[in-house]
Amino acid sequence: MNKFEIKENYKKLLKEKLSLDLTRGQPSKEQLKLSEPLDQILKNKFFFEGEDIRNYGLIKGLNSARKLGGMLLGVNFKNVIANGTSSLNLTFMALQALLFKGLNGSPWIKNKKISFLCPVPGYDRHFSLLESLGIIMINVPLTGEGPDMDIVEKLVAKDKTIKGIICVPKHSNPTGETYSSKVLERLAKLPKKASKDFMIFYDNAYSVHDFKKSKKLGNIFNLCKKFKTSNNIIMFASTSKITFAGAGISFLASSEKVLTNFLKFYDKTRVGSDKINQAKHAKFFKNKKSLEDHMSKHAVLISKKFEIVENYLSKLPPEFGTWTKPTGGYFVSFDSKPGKAKKIYNLCELAGLKLTKVGATFPYNKDPHDQNIRISPSKISNSELKKAMEVFIISVMLAG
Ligand SMILES: Cc1ncc(COP(=O)(O)O)c(C=O)c1O
Repeated sequence: MNKFEIKENYKKLLKEKLSLDLTRGQPSKEQLKLSEPLDQILKNKFFFEGEDIRNYGLIKGLNSARKLGGMLLGVNFKNVIANGTSSLNLTFMALQALLFKGLNGSPWIKNKKISFLCPVPGYDRHFSLLESLGIIMINVPLTGEGPDMDIVEKLVAKDKTIKGIICVPKHSNPTGETYSSKVLERLAKLPKKASKDFMIFYDNAYSVHDFKKSKKLGNIFNLCKKFKTSNNIIMFASTSKITFAGAGISFLASSEKVLTNFLKFYDKTRVGSDKINQAKHAKFFKNKKSLEDHMSKHAVLISKKFEIVENYLSKLPPEFGTWTKPTGGYFVSFDSKPGKAKKIYNLCELAGLKLTKVGATFPYNKDPHDQNIRISPSKISNSELKKAMEVFIISVMLAG
């Protein structure tokens, strides 16, 4: 397409008065439908594992739900708490517990300055959690197989205000990368070089979300045990992208010591846990096979969306940008030429396509090169997605 044709095509799109949205990584209606049997699965039977699940109690959750969490995170169920619907909420509580109570050492709040390493581009809500608590965020580049560990190791060795790192190790949001075994090993050893009360936040939100043959993620908790750093890691997962994003269950896992200390903070915030939803999930996913079968149905639906995105992006001449080709998860990370992302965003917006705000994939909403755009194709219908990608690539070319 020459310049004139690009402009003409863009003008035509403007006339269509579109209203399209690629902002958030949410499951589509078809994906949500896969879990509808959850609703009636208990058939009004409210006794489960000898408990009246309608009542208060079992702060750590039902054992069968904790086992589901153990399966997602690769740990024994005794190391897991099953909570309400949001792992993000558990992440926030773990940060608060570390700040005000301490989980493996004294409360962080005793320090004047608390910093965190943030692999970038990353998950916007992680950054807003840290920012809301006044934690200073330091960017660390991702390499395609996890954070640049040379930089990470150097930083934690010289700066003891760095108290943690926040990671999405599989099908990372938004780059889609999965950490290599070498990176996991270095991460597991990292607390030895860092401040004593250093904590790895390991948000394994996409552990079973392959839609194509994917690289296997190693077991970091076993590595931490091997290197005697298991008190320096907290792991998170949820069924938000497995069953219902608004009514799933979430999990926190850690060593016994950290879990015991966390519970002393956590049990002030509730009298029990939502065991009804936990029982539903435990019945729905009786074993690993039922979880795998369910996720393969998601894979069929979601892989189609990523195919559409790839088809459109591959029409772009190479000088306009680069993008990731994930094998799982919910996102494609697009890097335009430096200095063009905001312009692309504005052109898309004008043509009726909403994108995640430029900068959101970086701490403080500041993309240092103004080039990263997160594409979240899961929720939108296939026909709308095609239109959205048409708008996107025309906008990229026009901006370029
Ligand atoms: C990396 C990551 N962590 C956590 C969440 C949110 O999880 P939850 O719904 O369990 O709070 C998301 C949602 O997009 C995510 O991408």
